[in-house]
Amino acid sequence: MTKRGGLDTEVAGLGEFVRVEVADGIATIRLDRPKMNALNAQVQGEIAAAAAEVTADEAIRAVILYGGERVFAAGADIKEMTVLGYPDMVERSARLQAAFTAVADIPKPVVAAITGYALGGGLELALCADFRVLGESAQVGQPEILLGVIPGAGGTQRLPRLIGPAKAKDLIFTGRFVPAAEALAIGLVDKVVPDAEVYRAARDLIARYATGPALALRAAKQAVNKGLEVDLATGLEIERLHFAALFATEDQKTGMRSFVEKGPGKADFPGR
Ligand code: CAA
Repeated sequence: MTKRGGLDTEVAGLGEFVRVEVADGIATIRLDRPKMNALNAQVQGEIAAAAAEVTADEAIRAVILYGGERVFAAGADIKEMTVLGYPDMVERSARLQAAFTAVADIPKPVVAAITGYALGGGLELALCADFRVLGESAQVGQPEILLGVIPGAGGTQRLPRLIGPAKAKDLIFTGRFVPAAEALAIGLVDKVVPDAEVYRAARDLIARYATGPALALRAAKQAVNKGLEVDLATGLEIERLHFAALFATEDQKTGMRSFVEKGPGKADFPGR
């Protein structure tokens, strides 16, 4: 047991640099590689393992990505990459993308709690969450161009899907750091709070889902995410099949019975 945000927290999974801490049905995937949580190959592997763990554990109903009070992550480990060539990177980049896709595919609500910096691969990791909460002095960006490369962990794909192609190209072409107010204004983050309140605010944002209808939340996330990748007719079909399937759940029976007997918004969902 450890303490985080006044909560008793159980450490459910432990890598050298990435821990999974669980309290009240909410898992925190905590990056911990001082000084800047640079995402070397080992961290990337541990992130993939953490994503698999929170996906598989039915007691975990929502997830927070967190890098601690000082920094979310300053990107892939540049020092590790300096010596690599194409034969190395063509293979490593596949593992990097697979690790982040495992985070994007966690079938539960996920929020990134961002302090300090989320740069390069750090921002790309945050883009795999459903929501982003940012500290007021934190900065985000895709500075890969300043290193002579481009984002390689989803930035050229997930960023334009979130904020539109022109704004994404501005950030990717210039590599500039975006301050909190602008990040909020362009829809790159969902909430800006005082630095000391980032973790708590992210937890508050996600806590309601820990007691929600788990299978409906899973279906909603998958319908939105998969629907963004296909034409409208296919997306509508994805939605329709998920919608119909939810009529096989206890949550649907509970939710509709509760509405009829007690009115809207009072259901106590079993999460099955
Ligand atoms: N990789 C490796 N080491 C890093 C790092 C990174 N991405 N970011 C910071 N560090 C290291 C620094 O080298 C420094 O190490 P030493 O103390 O041993 O010298 C330490 O972390 C602290 O960094 P600074 O002294 O630079 O701290 P600062 O407060 O002055 O600046 C910063 C902080 C703005 C984050 C700055 O370090 C920075 O710009 N970092 C690089 C950001 C970046 O370019 N990210 C993209 C990486 S490429 C990528 O992510 C590819 C991809 O798409 C997957």
